[in-house]
Amino acid sequence: MDLQKYESELNYPVISVEKNLLDSRLLMPSYGGNAGEVTAIMTYSFQHFICHVKEIAEVLHGISIVEMKHMERLGEAITALGGYPIIAGRTYWSGSAVNYTLVTKKFLRQNILAEETAILNYERTILNLNQDCLKQLIERIIVDEEIHIKLFKELLKAI
Ligand SMILES: [Fe+2]
Repeated sequence: MDLQKYESELNYPVISVEKNLLDSRLLMPSYGGNAGEVTAIMTYSFQHFICHVKEIAEVLHGISIVEMKHMERLGEAITALGGYPIIAGRTYWSGSAVNYTLVTKKFLRQNILAEETAILNYERTILNLNQDCLKQLIERIIVDEEIHIKLFKELLKAI
């Protein structure tokens, strides 16, 4: 699948880190927390399966794959920092964190709110991280989340 429309063309930073469990713990909520990337992947996948409007389902599919790339980068960073990339934030991730809203208009609005929350969480995380390449990774991910907000807003307008 061509992901061009769903992500920034900017490269991800090279992750070269000192082991640091504090930093790895700071990344966990964005990775496998209730409002993290795993929840985004699963929510957009669910929406992709149930949405009858082909154009919208396709965008949801593309975005879900970009979120998977975010999850992958965070998992790699957590591991490089000496942490364990278990699917968890503060507690183990569960499918109850997924948004199962069925009405397209409603879930598009909720997706925008979820992306805005994710960005806020990321911005807070950046303030506490101790290594520059990690801050750059989060900044790179935020650029994609902003693209996702734009895409969801465009879809909402077209309905
Ligand atoms: Fe993401």
